[in-house]
Amino acid sequence: MSDKIYDLAVIGAGPGGYHSAIRAAQFGANVALIEKENLGGTCLNWGCIPTKALYASSALIQKIREHGEDFGLKCSLDLDFAKAVERKNQVVKELVDGIKALEKGWKNDVYMGYGKIIGGDKDKGFDIEIKGEDNTTIKAKRIIIATGSSPALIPAFNIDHERILTSDDILHPDFKKVPERLLIIGAGVIGCEFGNIFSTFGSKVTMLEYLPSPIATEERMVIRELQKKFDELNIEIHVSQNVLSVENTGNGVKATTCSADVPRDQVDSAEKSFFEADICLVSIGRAKESSNLGLEEMGIATERGAIKANKDTLETDCEGIYAIGDVTGGVMLAHVASYEGDIAVNNALTSIGGFPTHQETTDYSVVPATIFTNPNIGSVGMRRQEAKDKGMDVAMGRFPFQSLGKALCMGEDEGFIMILADKEDGKIVGASCIGAEAPELISEIALAMKHGLNVQDISEVIHSHPTISEMVLEGAEDVFGMSIHRKGRPDLDFHKRVKK
Ligand code: NAI
Repeated sequence: MSDKIYDLAVIGAGPGGYHSAIRAAQFGANVALIEKENLGGTCLNWGCIPTKALYASSALIQKIREHGEDFGLKCSLDLDFAKAVERKNQVVKELVDGIKALEKGWKNDVYMGYGKIIGGDKDKGFDIEIKGEDNTTIKAKRIIIATGSSPALIPAFNIDHERILTSDDILHPDFKKVPERLLIIGAGVIGCEFGNIFSTFGSKVTMLEYLPSPIATEERMVIRELQKKFDELNIEIHVSQNVLSVENTGNGVKATTCSADVPRDQVDSAEKSFFEADICLVSIGRAKESSNLGLEEMGIATERGAIKANKDTLETDCEGIYAIGDVTGGVMLAHVASYEGDIAVNNALTSIGGFPTHQETTDYSVVPATIFTNPNIGSVGMRRQEAKDKGMDVAMGRFPFQSLGKALCMGEDEGFIMILADKEDGKIVGASCIGAEAPELISEIALAMKHGLNVQDISEVIHSHPTISEMVLEGAEDVFGMSIHRKGRPDLDFHKRVKK
């Protein structure tokens, strides 16, 4: 072991970890970044980025198929899936190489191997053993654990990585054949994104979902709109299905289900349904990657695999060790992990007398979320039901894409935005959008919410024309029944609009 003591060691180089390492270096810290597999973690290698690269191919196909002729385009479509996968692999490679270059540029030491905390404390510093491509032990004053998550595995689903796959398998650089029939277990975010992509690529997609609805946490009207689209695409979703087992039959897969209403102890005698396909994707959530990190020895508690960290400071039970991102089991989104990285870096460096000089606490009041189905979905803040359950009186503004000039020019007339505002002061409490660029539109609302703006503040901003961003303007004005291109009824007294 060298005598060098790092200010900070970050274990895991996903969007939480690599971001933290760069941020700490920006503050002048000397940093070690430890990664067992690939820089970029799930997001860059097996998640957000490869999915979105494949999505881009499928969205292009969907657009030409649905609107090509209207656009004056006469062509026949012939998908070269292997080529689309190569493009996806290239995008991933470029970004991973980019992260490598950035870490190098900030003079961070990157260790490739499995990191395990083997001792020490906040005063002496911590020892971390690294095993893998690099085999060494390093010392650091502070540690951030950002080891992420991996697809949840259930023994009865017999995931064999051949016919019964996780999202990692279906995004594997060598997965280059579109299955004729694709069965997806779990109609959450991953299930719906892949269902849409592969149905566009020509698979007959069937989805099985335990809950009474796909993407159940989204706004009901948004779910209905997505279901309408999935019906058009001939994607079958069977809801309230308890999937009991999945088997590889040799030349395909077979899932056995019963109704989700059947109590656990009566499952054996319950009526069963069977679903067959060529390939099965299991997307039923993700498990936290917290094993063999030396947590127990360091007195760090976990709960069902999730590392327990103080929800304000992100420090674990062991002073000087912080945990961020999916491994803490909070909001499992890449951008939340990066945000938490900022807080943890701030607090870790403050505690060793470095820069910055004050502790910060997390604020999860505004977390935008996105789903890259086609149409896209974006949401932030509360849903209508949630506001109702909290006893809040909310006003709603709605605006459909079909009434927006730019959307019609683009052939993007599906979907709508809805904005929820507190009836008392017009402050925005949530928004949901399904349609073109929905995730981008939600960013404007997130900014407004974070800074306590109300719907009038949005309507006073000049939005350039013609742009999709006018959806936000019209949606905000519709709260007062004053959208120019939609005759809606005022949900909030428009006199309140002029009073400041
Ligand atoms: P999820 O929690 O979104 O969905 C899993 C679904 O599977 C749920 O609807 C659940 O009810 C269902 N399910 C669970 N057990 C089942 C069973 N035995 N039979 C039938 N259905 C069952 O998890 P998912 O889709 O795996 O995504 C994992 C994480 O990755 C999430 O936190 C998600 O937010 C994140 N992610 C984010 C993306 C984005 O920001 N665009 C894209 C993809 C994933």
